[in-house]
Amino acid sequence: LLHQSTYLVNGELKQWEGETAEVYSTISSTADYKHTILGTIPQLGEAEALEALDSATNAYNKGQGLWPTMKVIDRIACMEKFVEEMKTKREEVVKLLMWEIGKNLPDSEKEFDRTVDYIYDTIEAYKQIDRDSAKFEKNSGVYAHIRRGPLGVVLCLGPYNYPLNETFTLLIPALIMGNPVVFKPAKIGVLLISPLLEAFQKSFPKGVVNIVYGRGRVLATPIMQSGKVDVLALIGNSKSANALQAQHPKGNRLRMVLGLEAKNPAIILPDADLDLAVEECIAGTLSFNGQRCTALKVIYVHESVVEEFNRLFAFKVDQLKFGNPWEAGSKLTPLPEVEKPAYIQELIDDAKEKGAEILNKKGGETTENFIFPAVLYPVTKDMRVFKEEQFGPVVPVVSFSDIEEPLHDMAESDYGQQVSLFGQNVHTLSPLIDTLVNLVCRVNLNSSCQRGPDVYPFTGRKDSAYGTLSVHDALRSFSIRTFVASKDN
Ligand code: G3H
Repeated sequence: LLHQSTYLVNGELKQWEGETAEVYSTISSTADYKHTILGTIPQLGEAEALEALDSATNAYNKGQGLWPTMKVIDRIACMEKFVEEMKTKREEVVKLLMWEIGKNLPDSEKEFDRTVDYIYDTIEAYKQIDRDSAKFEKNSGVYAHIRRGPLGVVLCLGPYNYPLNETFTLLIPALIMGNPVVFKPAKIGVLLISPLLEAFQKSFPKGVVNIVYGRGRVLATPIMQSGKVDVLALIGNSKSANALQAQHPKGNRLRMVLGLEAKNPAIILPDADLDLAVEECIAGTLSFNGQRCTALKVIYVHESVVEEFNRLFAFKVDQLKFGNPWEAGSKLTPLPEVEKPAYIQELIDDAKEKGAEILNKKGGETTENFIFPAVLYPVTKDMRVFKEEQFGPVVPVVSFSDIEEPLHDMAESDYGQQVSLFGQNVHTLSPLIDTLVNLVCRVNLNSSCQRGPDVYPFTGRKDSAYGTLSVHDALRSFSIRTFVASKDN
């Protein structure tokens, strides 16, 4: 059991004596898996939230504080110290990723290692961004010495599916650009931050990183209402982002870096390599049980190949092994959200009532904390699974006769993150790609959708994102370009 009894404010690990909340594991052999308690976390109140905010506000001190004015080399030294400390906690964090969110061992290790690489890459990119600075405009004879300045105090809120990696893709660039942060870990995937608290405390000056625990509503509301937050950095859903923005007295001028929902489609053309398409769609729809914002959430297949695709795909889905995260070969694992199996069942029932069938033998089989992925066909627009972001193990397959049909749906969708396009004829693909890049932000040719490699921009249109993440773009998202103009170089 891990009893997290401290929180980090103003450089101090403060002892909490008040209310605590139990943290449950998704993994259990009992019928009610709520009984597997992993530990406890503090339930801080409004006073502690505002204390954390004040601490960050003082560290920023209207741009004159120690952190925003610190030399590049010193800020880098803090980050390097942190990542070295963090690396010593790999085993603990990986174990908690498995127990808390049910991510399998290879993916948990990948999440940790990817985050470490991301920090090193960010440090390198930061060195470049600061040096890439002189411009000369011949006609006026004016030199511009470009710099990048921080934006202010950041409120950082991360998601449960990548509680370490995605949260750090906000936290790390925000910090290195000189912005102090108040960070509240996700409700699920919260204990795994505990092993890193001391690393934060030891590596950064006081007030630069503040970590608070408790209910989002209790902590984030007073923080936003204070009007002292300059940047809202959130990976989650647009409903929460909108609500938080609305709480800020100058919400319309608040800067935001947001990673939100998506309903990424795969489009399978008549000449697609079906074996490849099936393999990529398995990974795209079902890695981490479909709990990825980049997951493929609807598959469009041309009517001429839909039967063959369905046969191959349904067969492969049934081969996926369900097991505990540490068991070799577990591709499907227990679901961390207690209510998720019932929600997925609702989507299946709704689709079946409206005429879809489950194509795979095991589809919809349930255990106490899991529902086996169901491949649904034929899915039509009136079904909930067609429209809702399922974020879980159910795969809708839609057949089309004219490419205009999926394109129309994408144009009408509230989301616009990525698409996977499967086909081989360059003369068909090329104009299609030109259309698709105006509907989404990344077209994956003959491969599934994904965020990485992290050097590429990660963003979306419409309700899918605001601002851009990745190693390089995130540094820009968390800073403002300023410059010194002069007649002399
Ligand atoms: O949940 C959304 C994540 O950003 C997905 O990242 O494509 O690397 O799994 P990924």
